[in-house]
Amino acid sequence: MKTVYVLNGPNLNLLGLREPAIYGSQTLADVRALCEAACARYGLGLEFRQSNHEGELVDWVHEAGRVHAEGRLAGLIFNAAAYTHTSVALLDAVKGTGVPLVELHISNVHARESFRHHSYLSAAARAVMCGFGVAGYGLAIDAVAQW
Ligand code: DQA
Repeated sequence: MKTVYVLNGPNLNLLGLREPAIYGSQTLADVRALCEAACARYGLGLEFRQSNHEGELVDWVHEAGRVHAEGRLAGLIFNAAAYTHTSVALLDAVKGTGVPLVELHISNVHARESFRHHSYLSAAARAVMCGFGVAGYGLAIDAVAQW
């Protein structure tokens, strides 16, 4: 069984409370349940995690890289949140491991402040999606299941 890694960056633990007009009212637990249901449909395993700490996210990308090297990674779906726009370390982790990456954002970052328009991760991503709300996680799993 292949596994999908779904990693979530800073402040995504606040989903449901945080700026609901932008991010909606569903919580991170709801997103996890949505991902579990989508992975179950395809017979995929799921590692679903959230951290507010850049280094911990780097470590988890490395872990996904080891799973990838063993041929057991379906894909990494990564909402790096604010670190998307700041983190060379996360870009290097993705490039260094060669993990097949979907960069995901709940909101349409291109319709927001200009500092959200640049992503360090996009250069290393196989696919980029934004603006589908939390439903994007399920859509990303639909896509990864075909990889
Ligand atoms: C986000 C967009 C980022 O710009 C922001 O910093 C986030 C969430 C999104 O899912 O829309 O924390 O990645």
